[in-house]
Amino acid sequence: MNVNKTIEILLQESHRFPPNRSFQERAYVKDNSLFELANDFETFWNEQSKFLDWIEPFHTICDRSNPPFYSWFVGGKLNASFNCLDRHIFSGHGNKAAIIWEGEPGDRRTLTYRELWRSVNKFANALKKLGVSKGDRVAIYLPLIPEAVISMLACARIGAIHSVVFGGFSPESLRDRINDAQAKVLITADGGWRRGEVLPLKHDADVAISQCPSIKHVVIVKRGDFLLRVKEGRDHWYHRLMQEAPAHCDPEAMFSNDPLFTLYTSGSTGKPKGILHHTGGYLVWVNRTTQWVFDIRPEDVFWCTADVGWITGHSYLVYGPLSLGATIVMYEGAPDYPEKDRFWEIIERHGVTIFYTAPTAIRAFMKWGNEHPEKHDLSTLRLLGTVGEPINPAAWLWYHQTIGRGKCPIVDTWWQTETGGILISPLPGLTTTVPGSATKPLPGIDAAVLDEQGNEVPINQGGYLAIRKPWPGMLAGIWGDEERYKQVYWSKWENVYFPGDGARIDEDGNFWLLGRVDDVMNVAGHRISTMEVESALVSHPDVSEAAVVGIEHDIKGEAIAAFVTLKGGKLGDVEMVSKLKEHVANTIGAIAKPEKILFSVDLPKTRSGKIMRRLLRDIALGRVLGDTTTLADPSVVEFLKKKYEEQES
Ligand code: PRX
Repeated sequence: MNVNKTIEILLQESHRFPPNRSFQERAYVKDNSLFELANDFETFWNEQSKFLDWIEPFHTICDRSNPPFYSWFVGGKLNASFNCLDRHIFSGHGNKAAIIWEGEPGDRRTLTYRELWRSVNKFANALKKLGVSKGDRVAIYLPLIPEAVISMLACARIGAIHSVVFGGFSPESLRDRINDAQAKVLITADGGWRRGEVLPLKHDADVAISQCPSIKHVVIVKRGDFLLRVKEGRDHWYHRLMQEAPAHCDPEAMFSNDPLFTLYTSGSTGKPKGILHHTGGYLVWVNRTTQWVFDIRPEDVFWCTADVGWITGHSYLVYGPLSLGATIVMYEGAPDYPEKDRFWEIIERHGVTIFYTAPTAIRAFMKWGNEHPEKHDLSTLRLLGTVGEPINPAAWLWYHQTIGRGKCPIVDTWWQTETGGILISPLPGLTTTVPGSATKPLPGIDAAVLDEQGNEVPINQGGYLAIRKPWPGMLAGIWGDEERYKQVYWSKWENVYFPGDGARIDEDGNFWLLGRVDDVMNVAGHRISTMEVESALVSHPDVSEAAVVGIEHDIKGEAIAAFVTLKGGKLGDVEMVSKLKEHVANTIGAIAKPEKILFSVDLPKTRSGKIMRRLLRDIALGRVLGDTTTLADPSVVEFLKKKYEEQES
């Protein structure tokens, strides 16, 4: 039977997929014993900590005396780079491939654990020579090349706190992140490849750091032969520093609750938050979840397609798999370059066994057609994963049938930058999966769906997702802003973590994630706040006011619609639309470009002047307008609705 027909039938049947027998027999988790062990909080987490090498033992598993500030494995000392590198060499795996890398133009490199370890040692020494020491912040603005991993692990080796900024972010976004963290050194590249074009990273970095007084040195990785300016005394070529650097750098003994990194993510205000993760708890959590959820074995080849600029790249490209001594695949460029089968070609070439990507990518693959994966031998694949946004059952089933050939379990993993690692997901050798549901909380995770008052809502009723007990991977705070940390995550209920997602639990105990409940959009799996885009729009000299809402999108899940009022009461034309789209891309990054922009002389507001986004969303989704009685001027929505319909038709 043809694949599309099978998917249609399965969709009608709302199918369940029990774990397949052969997978289950060899799986790392195949029964409920971990869940049973997790009933004893202290014993469970103590057992899980033993999968890392500690320099000094901890005396307290979790200090809960000052909520919501929880400290994990208190008193213990360890080093993250030692756990990701040295120990694998000591156990005889120095010549195993750590990173199999492909650049977009087709260049390839494989780094063994020993080679990666050498580079990390040297670069750690180079950073020290530039004056970086324990506790200093280092910003990383690189393409997805091995030097990104080397930089992160080199920071971890000397106890510096890395702050990776996605290479697609604009100079302004980079500047704000550097200034918030007061980073001392910036690591960048002359450029990086994306869809055959060069991302001018060093050029953008120069624009950013002209307003970053904290930056004392810039390290430039030579990725190609791209033009750039080198500022004597401040800028240093990576390869020159590496030539001069001594070969050995002792790993710094870090307290478990010393910071490992900050990573910026959008909140419901215009200013991104520097999510802070500590060393011990984070590393225990990503190590355990990589093993439980991805069932990694020594012979696996694990490809997580995320960039290191996002948390998925931190946890499941770098720290999780490398702390387990796994082989990872890394690919620099776009999935459709030079052809739409690039991913499948990579899977075939390197014999990828575990593949982890985002629903947006899966929907794009579906649209591009089955002929692309069908051209390649994907028979090495044994497990598939998805992350970042809800996956619609049709995309899940396509992934299962076309990529997994009906044989690979799918793990739909729910988590966030703040949670450090996966919290809700199937365990592939144990869980019966249901397309569209992330299924159940992992061992040790006490997740529930609550109402405003903190009561559990009945089965199948929507409510707020809540995590009621601390877990090791949890964020340690927001960089430099304790109040915001308490207010955003811990003020809804007492001592309960509020992730900002809606959810429901079905009659089988499966969790269905319903999207964000705050003013944060999820565009192609990337978090963008409505206010961030609004501030970018109003920073344009012609704009007087802007309101932004998320709208449904076939591929990206969600896209951005902006309602804009121009100065002088003018209505903008097509040229203005493209100017404003470019302006947002230049201010934040291309991921924040609005899909639609509509001009109006005014926006719908309450009598007290608050913009009614709910109505704008109704307009953008072509829905019947909700309650309009509180509007100051009802004619504004009528005008907008008419304009929107005209534009759509
Ligand atoms: O809304 C949830 C959605 O992505 C948000 C977290 O975004 P970020 O911190 O950028 O991390 C993304 C990668 C972990 C969540 O609050 N989300 C993430 N995974 C899923 C999801 N929504 C539904 N299903 C998922 N599997």
